[in-house]
Amino acid sequence: MSEFITMTDIDRAVDAIRSRIDIQPEIGLILGTGLGPLADSVEGATIIPNREIPCWPISTVQGHQGRLVIGELEGKNVFILQGRTHFYEGYTMGQTTLSVRVMKRLGCDTLIVTNAAGAINSDYVPGDLMMITDHINLIGMGGANPLMGPNLDEFGVRFPDMSQPYDHDLLATARAACDADGIPYHQGVYVGLAGPSFETPAELRFLKAIGADAVGMSTVPEVIVARHSGMRVLGVSGISNKANLDGSTITTHEEVLEAGQVLVPKLTDLIRGTLSRL
Ligand code: HPA
Repeated sequence: MSEFITMTDIDRAVDAIRSRIDIQPEIGLILGTGLGPLADSVEGATIIPNREIPCWPISTVQGHQGRLVIGELEGKNVFILQGRTHFYEGYTMGQTTLSVRVMKRLGCDTLIVTNAAGAINSDYVPGDLMMITDHINLIGMGGANPLMGPNLDEFGVRFPDMSQPYDHDLLATARAACDADGIPYHQGVYVGLAGPSFETPAELRFLKAIGADAVGMSTVPEVIVARHSGMRVLGVSGISNKANLDGSTITTHEEVLEAGQVLVPKLTDLIRGTLSRL
């Protein structure tokens, strides 16, 4: 594989997946750390381990199953990534976002992306949901944007607009779903970092000062690639831990996985409710 993802790489993965499914997916879903069980209720599921797909990066992180689940949820044909790959695993930005290119190529025009995130906003506690209204691409500002390299004109323009990364209509639909089911939620700004080390207290104070409500190590590159190709995006963070702005407690991956168990039922309701309204 070359340094940058090519149409050939994308279409090899697309062809391998298409040969194993007989539905046309319309909505892509990416499940974050500890949130994989959300895919268990898919009906008529075709399950494809990532290692069986050419060019597909393999997730090495505990809490990420590393397979595709393709089938029906709330009457919609969904393409679910049960476990994603991250930049910190050593993959290129192009590899970590290949899944979104493939979804688009298979026919998805909507992406629902979830993640586990640390709370910077002091009103948030572990187990809360935050609908993402905007993001800060701190990794990209540091020089790692997934659209670097030759532009893939088949998907979108060289300089894509990012004025509405998270679709206002989808947000309204997700809010309606939460309100109908009595699911509380916040709305806020997600900042995407590379990881894998968690943030220092000084870094967290900096992130708060620049307007972030939650922090994580994923999502932003996927959303940029989705928007490049005109997909509409809904993003939801499951708050897994309080980011520790004064250095008085520590953050662990186990804590993030544990919070996933509390978050899965809420996120499942939010996503089902949203899908049923689309
Ligand atoms: N920081 C960065 N990424 C995260 C965190 C955090 O506190 N929690 C879950 N993902």
